[in-house]
Amino acid sequence: MPEKVYIFDTTLRDGEQSPGCSMNLEEKLEMARQLDRLGVDILEAGFPVASQGDFEAVQAIAAEIRRPVIAALARASQLDIDRAWQALKGAARPRIHTFLATSDVHLRYKLRKTREEVLKQISWAVGYAKSYCADVEFSPEDAGRTDRAYLIECCHAAVEAGATVLNLPDTVGYCLEPEYEQMFADVKAKVPGMDRVMLSTHTHNDLGLAVANTLAGIRGGARQVECTINGIGERAGNAALEEVVMAIYVRRDALPVYTEIRTEELYASSQLLTRLTGVEVQRNKAIVGRNAFAHEAGIHQDGVLKNAITYEIITPQTVGMSSNEIVLGKHSGRHALAKRFEELGYSLSKPELDRAYQQFCRLADRKKQVYDEDLIAIVREGFDHLPETYSLRSFQTVASTEGPSTATIELERDGQVYHDSATAQGPCDAAFRAIDRIIGIPGTIVDFSVHTVGSGTDGVAEVVVRARFEGREFSGQASSHNVVEAAARSYLQAANKAVYELQAQQARRAAAAGVHADERVNQLFPAGY
Ligand code: KIV
Ligand code: ZN
Repeated sequence: MPEKVYIFDTTLRDGEQSPGCSMNLEEKLEMARQLDRLGVDILEAGFPVASQGDFEAVQAIAAEIRRPVIAALARASQLDIDRAWQALKGAARPRIHTFLATSDVHLRYKLRKTREEVLKQISWAVGYAKSYCADVEFSPEDAGRTDRAYLIECCHAAVEAGATVLNLPDTVGYCLEPEYEQMFADVKAKVPGMDRVMLSTHTHNDLGLAVANTLAGIRGGARQVECTINGIGERAGNAALEEVVMAIYVRRDALPVYTEIRTEELYASSQLLTRLTGVEVQRNKAIVGRNAFAHEAGIHQDGVLKNAITYEIITPQTVGMSSNEIVLGKHSGRHALAKRFEELGYSLSKPELDRAYQQFCRLADRKKQVYDEDLIAIVREGFDHLPETYSLRSFQTVASTEGPSTATIELERDGQVYHDSATAQGPCDAAFRAIDRIIGIPGTIVDFSVHTVGSGTDGVAEVVVRARFEGREFSGQASSHNVVEAAARSYLQAANKAVYELQAQQARRAAAAGVHADERVNQLFPAGY
């Protein structure tokens, strides 16, 4: 009988803490709702001691998302565990996930502790977490490089102190598959009491082996796997959830396990994360990349037309991706549009549908055929749930090969129009600088990418911008036939998020100082902010 593998999603913790992937509270909540729809069993919502933002996100997710177990990370210290519990205590099914490094290299250079001291700290930390919460996971950090006999002692200490899950991380992505598999087999065989404890994998992709090692861990006895959507995470990332799930699904003949993930939500989950972080997956990414189901070579196309099984081991529909057929045109109605959005994983509220429909009509006027990709571009651009403080009314650019470019931008805020011009090396940069002059918080571009959606002269440019404002990064995404317009809109979207965050931060500070928040915000942000 196949056994269930529990999917532990850490997109909002290990994924979110990696550079370029940060999300604000609303964005984390939106992602958490999608992970719930996807059917993850455990959702690691954050690391509450790391920042007030992380604490609030874990608290909000714990309050709203009731089906999966909600986990929060804590180092093996009283402060961390107290904070994790404070954030988690409203959850229907809370779990404290505490960790301490166990490899000699971490003990010597990072912790400066002896093996005995670390062993004691593990017993204490798991016991302390247990005094709050019945479900406690322990991770011996860098287990993959930990001396095996000592690892077994550490796991034993954690189990004796009441750990319900033992997670064995390959923190630095160093292990080869047989080594990772053997570590699980050893812990399972040699740690007393393992019949009461679940073993878990946690792999990093530094050698490109994260998914392979996850499957090796399953073969070794793990029944929980830790992974992230799109494989985001520290350095080269974590094991990609969609790849692990589909490997288990497709090769159920060879693996003794199954998952309860709704595979048809995989593509929507990947797309949502891309929209929220601005971090695109590469075209040839397994399962969710644009080319994952594209057959270019004539011989392949011919085979697929005769029978898809010749070159397709998964149908695009299984992961929630349409087969890129032409779906809608200028005469399609609002109802058909809503239905198609639903099939693509976006359930839109009435105002959202109205807005999407307007954009769709504009696009359908210019293009004969509107593809799924176009529809996704529409939602990606238009449904960041934060208020759009400034909107783009118009822009003009002058660019030439002879020297700098100039942009003139008109923005609207609360019915009032602001305009300014700036000069820079290129037209996009000039537009960004003109926006900065109006809003008053200069941004620095961290990442800028353009790709075409659709093909030929019918294609539109989709621009993704990541920019740093006042030390924090925000992303924006927009598409248009005009690249400069798409760039200006995506930069403005990122700037609007920054304005919103700064206002919220100032309002929190003002409230803490006892001043009425609205009053203070008005003083702090008159026009021009
Ligand atoms: O990679 C790692 O070791 C971790 C632990 C905190 C589980 O992320
Ligand atoms: Zn990790």
